[in-house]
Amino acid sequence: MTAFPKLAKMKPDPSSNRRTIEREFGVPIAGQILSPEQWTKTALKQLPEGHLDWQALFGRTAPVVLDLGCGNARYTIGSAVWRPGHDHLATDILPVVIRYATRRGNQRGLTNVRFAVIGGRELLADHVSSGTVTEIHCYHPQPFYDAAQVSKRLITPEFLALVHKALVPGGLFFLQTDNPGYWTYMRQVAPVFFDFEEHPGRWPDAPKGRTRREIIALRQGLPVFRGFGKAKLNLSEDEALRLAQALPPPTFDADRRLRQLDALERE
Ligand SMILES: C[S@@+](CC[C@H](N)C(=O)[O-])C[C@H]1O[C@@H](n2cnc3c(N)ncnc32)[C@H](O)[C@@H]1O
Repeated sequence: MTAFPKLAKMKPDPSSNRRTIEREFGVPIAGQILSPEQWTKTALKQLPEGHLDWQALFGRTAPVVLDLGCGNARYTIGSAVWRPGHDHLATDILPVVIRYATRRGNQRGLTNVRFAVIGGRELLADHVSSGTVTEIHCYHPQPFYDAAQVSKRLITPEFLALVHKALVPGGLFFLQTDNPGYWTYMRQVAPVFFDFEEHPGRWPDAPKGRTRREIIALRQGLPVFRGFGKAKLNLSEDEALRLAQALPPPTFDADRRLRQLDALERE
């Protein structure tokens, strides 16, 4: 697993203007807001038909990292700042959160990140070639508490087969949630496609939380469940799909008492 430098490394140069560091719940967001002439354009407003050409998109060949359901993209911004040798694509279905994420990417002058409005499953199914992505991250996918919305849950057996297909051999998949029911389900299905292990405790690169939702859950004293795994070798696309069809859908009880987290996240 590629580790990030410790948070201390993002402390601003003492000579720089403190206002260029952005904080959320008191926790700095990586990078610094540059003067407007240094801003870049990180929005991918229209996804091309068919599969993305990573080299054409970023103008170079580099490991590709995806963040699916990125929210305000705190994780992706940090990864893009701290790992300039990696290229990143972060997506969400909500245009408003992608607007915030894009502004952050632009203002930091990042050239190794793009943001797009699209569902995680649709991105993988329609726009990502097999075996081309180094890491895929899914932090706190929406639990969807109401029975009528259960079919919108992102982590399904079919989605995991698509993640496996998109990853390069040995590529890594990261999963994290604050929802105990979702975690029980993830632990049941993820090991079918990945050499999946739980990550005890917080990520060393972000002890206060890699993402906005993680920070909110930790501030509420709630448990956060983290895991990652290498895509299983010698598991063909056909076999992965066959295995996916035999696995149960994510119909767990997300516990409606936890809905307040969604409200806090929107604030
Ligand atoms: C609980 S938030 C977590 C956001 C961020 N990953 C974090 O940890 O702070 C879940 C996000 O997933 C997005 N989302 C819901 N369904 C999605 C899907 N099918 N594909 C991509 N994003 C989705 C929501 O719009 C929301 O921004």
